[in-house]
Amino acid sequence: MTLAEWLRQATAALAETGIDYPALESQVLAAHVYNVDRTQVLVHGEWPVPAELDALLERRLGCEPLAYLTGVREFFGLRFVVGPGVLIPRQETETLVEAALELDLPTGAKVLDIGTGSGCVAISIAFERPDWQVSAVDVSAAAAGYATRNAEALGTHLEVIEGDVFSGVLAGRRFDLIVSNPPYVGTGDPLPPEIELHEPPQALYAGEDGLDFYRRLAREAQAWLQPSGWMLLEVGDHQAELVQVLLRDAGWRVYLPAFDLSGVARVVRAQGP
Ligand SMILES: C[S@@+](CC[C@H](N)C(=O)[O-])C[C@H]1O[C@@H](n2cnc3c(N)ncnc32)[C@H](O)[C@@H]1O
Repeated sequence: MTLAEWLRQATAALAETGIDYPALESQVLAAHVYNVDRTQVLVHGEWPVPAELDALLERRLGCEPLAYLTGVREFFGLRFVVGPGVLIPRQETETLVEAALELDLPTGAKVLDIGTGSGCVAISIAFERPDWQVSAVDVSAAAAGYATRNAEALGTHLEVIEGDVFSGVLAGRRFDLIVSNPPYVGTGDPLPPEIELHEPPQALYAGEDGLDFYRRLAREAQAWLQPSGWMLLEVGDHQAELVQVLLRDAGWRVYLPAFDLSGVARVVRAQGP
């Protein structure tokens, strides 16, 4: 079989499985295996097809996320290595990075990313503001490993702390800004199989209503902030107002949220006393 024939068949099979962009995904898989960019795949329809490509297609048809198969995902213009055990960066999370960069923090400002995963938020901030001191914490050893590796590969300075943020691992530390895209899915909430079966549960679920992590941050995070320090939290669809109320009740000053490209209130902004 030639590559052109494989692309036609793969696109049809992916479409039948309900994958949204079947032609694009078949080209991305092929480009990954041949180690070329997508345009090369389109102009070299005569290339023979290695068995590895069929194996990857089978896994994609079984709903494994594309980014786990290719091992990379672009975020804020940077390439992040990802794989099973770490959440794949989402485009809407770029709103959190933008909201952080809008803050007028002084040179040397100390920034903490809670639940850093691949490190996409912390590293993007460190990349754009090399004069800030960025730290990142994650309870997952796999995630801490990806964050460390990505920071090194992208030439950014990042302190990675492995541990449960609520366990005292940050005791005595004080930051000017905390950012977090915490787990925020409710235990009974339906998720697409691609996410539910493959992405780490620890990165997704936060109690029955998905708000447990926000409740704990509202109560505990002021202890890790300088006076009047900022906290920026990514929230799920329809969670912004609920999280704002939690924060206000815990004594935070709450500001207008930042909206993502789909017009969803995506980042709650608060300042400690
Ligand atoms: C929604 S993911 C976000 C990952 C990454 N920041 C991103 O935006 O792609 C949440 C992350 O929080 C981490 N996490 C969950 N509970 C935690 C805890 N108690 N302390 C520290 N990290 C935690 C998970 O391992 C996961 O990497």
